Amino acid sequence: MKLTAKLALPLLAAASLNVAGADHVPGPSHGIAYPTGWQNWATIAVSHRTDNNTLRAILGNKIAVKAAREGNTNPWPDGAIIGKVVWKDTTLENWNTATAPGEFVHAEFMFKDSTQYADTYNWGWARWVGLEQTPFGKGAQVCIDCHTPVQGRDWVFTDPAPFPGE
Ligand code: HEC
Repeated sequence: MKLTAKLALPLLAAASLNVAGADHVPGPSHGIAYPTGWQNWATIAVSHRTDNNTLRAILGNKIAVKAAREGNTNPWPDGAIIGKVVWKDTTLENWNTATAPGEFVHAEFMFKDSTQYADTYNWGWARWVGLEQTPFGKGAQVCIDCHTPVQGRDWVFTDPAPFPGE
């Protein structure tokens, strides 16, 4: 028993250092649970903001990607989760006119559920900051205010990128 406890302690210490690793799920943002596994979602679009020099991947869970490919996006179906992952711009070392993802900024998500999130225009709004994925807690109103110009397109700015059929 004693030996087992001694071996287990350093393992636990190592695991707690791996903050946003597979064995640690970040806490909720705005009461919304972390969407584990989003790192493996498929792409809906990409974007580049020239006003703040950041690159973005717009990802979706299976329901969102299917809706995006089929053009079923106004409204998006319940169960769809759209993710946006943001990196600061950098350039490729070996081709410096290519803009590439540098420092990781944050990952944020819109969770479509017209029952659960009826009070926030049928979307749950959440963000996790930095590689540590620290939950953002300033409130969904921050998100909603900025997304208001696109309320007529179900609060979503992104046009799904064209993809060849499978
Ligand atoms: C300063 C304005 C602003 C704020 C604040 C803001 N967004 Fe956005 N958001 C945008 C813009 C503009 C886009 C589309 C351009 C892009 O790709 O970044 C976008 C895109 C997104 C997308 C991809 C789907 C879409 O609408 O195109 C998600 C998901 C998202 N935002 C979530 C959030 C969440 C969650 C918050 C709050 C934590 C938030 N946003 C706050 C401006 C904002």
